[in-house]
Amino acid sequence: AMAEKAGFKHFMLKEIFEQPQAITNTVSGRVNPETGEVSLAEINLSAQECRNIDRIFLVACGTSWHAALVAKYWIERHAKIPVEVDIASEFRYRHLLIDERVLTITISQSGETADTLAGMRIARKMGSKAITICNVVGSTMTREADGTVYTHAGPEIGVASTKAFTSQLAALFLFTIFLGRHRGTIDLAKQQELAQALIGIPAIIEHHLPKIQEQVGALIEGYYDCRDFLFVGRGLSYPIALEGALKLKEISYIHAEGYASGELKHGPIALIDKEMPIVAMVPQDKVYHKTISNIEEIKARQGRLILIGSEGDSHLLTITDDVVWLPKIHEDMNPILYTIPAQLLAYEIATRRGCDVDQPRNLAKSVTVE
Ligand code: G6P
Repeated sequence: AMAEKAGFKHFMLKEIFEQPQAITNTVSGRVNPETGEVSLAEINLSAQECRNIDRIFLVACGTSWHAALVAKYWIERHAKIPVEVDIASEFRYRHLLIDERVLTITISQSGETADTLAGMRIARKMGSKAITICNVVGSTMTREADGTVYTHAGPEIGVASTKAFTSQLAALFLFTIFLGRHRGTIDLAKQQELAQALIGIPAIIEHHLPKIQEQVGALIEGYYDCRDFLFVGRGLSYPIALEGALKLKEISYIHAEGYASGELKHGPIALIDKEMPIVAMVPQDKVYHKTISNIEEIKARQGRLILIGSEGDSHLLTITDDVVWLPKIHEDMNPILYTIPAQLLAYEIATRRGCDVDQPRNLAKSVTVE
C-alpha cells in the first residue's frame, strides 16, 4: 500500500503533491504558450454559440460547487456573461428559468453524482446546451452532455477532493479564456496575460509546496484540538474559505464554517472570542484593504487569527504571528494557490488528531443516490 502511495503516508497527501502535475496535464495541449489561444475540442461549442449565450448556470455539489463559485467571478469578469451558481440538489427542484440561450455547465469529479446528473438532464430538457467539467472518462455525465472539458487529474483516491478541485479550476479558467476570446471581451494581450498566468501556476505550486507544508505544520500544535473554526475570504478568496472549512470538517470532524469576510458583521462576529480560531485569506488583491479592515474587527474581539497572505506584506505581522506566506502572483490564480495551505491545514490537523483522512466516516467518494 505504501508503494501505491509513492512514499506518502496517505493518498490525500500524495494527491495534494500531485497538483502541479494534474494542473499541467489539464492545461497543456489546450493552450498555445505563445499566443495564449485556447482550444477545447471536445466541448462542441462554436464561436457563434459562445456569442449567443446570455446566461450561464453552473451546477455542482460539494467541492465541485466551490469551483463553480470561483468560476462565476472569472467568467463574469472576463467573458461578461451573468453566471448563476447552484447546488445541484437545489437546482433540480426549483423553478428554473432556462431556455436555449442558457448554457448549463455541470462540474463533477466523478461524473456520476446523482443530483448533478439530474440537474443536467433537466436543463437539457428545457433547451439548454449542457457542458460538463469532469475527471472520469466515459462517466455518465460525459456521455449525456453536449460537450465535455476533461480535467486530467488522474484517479483521485482520497475521499476529500484535492487535485480534482484545482484541476477543475484550471479547466474553468481555460474555458473563461476560450469564452472571452470568442465573445470579444478579451483582446489578444489579455488572452496572453491570462494564459501565461495559468501556465505558470504549476511551477509556483511545485516550488512552494514543501515550504507551505512546513509553515502549516509549525502552527497547528496550538490549534488542532479546537472545537470550531471560521474561514473567511472576500472575492476570489471567498469560495476558498468555504473549501478550507469543508476540507477541515470532512476529515478532522471539527466544526468549521466558511464566510465572506464582509458578512461576518451580520452574525458570525458574535461567535468571536479569544478561543475562536479564524483562518483568513488575505492576498494583496483588489479587495485587500477591505479584507484587512474585516480582520482588524476580528482582532479587536480577540479572535485567534491565522492569516494566509503575500510574502513581504509586513502589515500582517502587526495582526498575528501565525501567518502562512505565499508568493504574490497574478490575481486570478490566487484561488488555486490559496487552496494549497487550506488543504494542508485540514490534513495536518486531521492526522494530528489521529483521523483516517483517506476514508472519513459517513462520506463517500461519489454519491450516486439522492
Ligand atoms: C462527495 C465527495 C466530495 C465531492 C462531492 C461531489 O460528497 O465526498 O469530495 O466534492 O461528492 O462529487 P463530484 O464527483 O460530483 O465532484
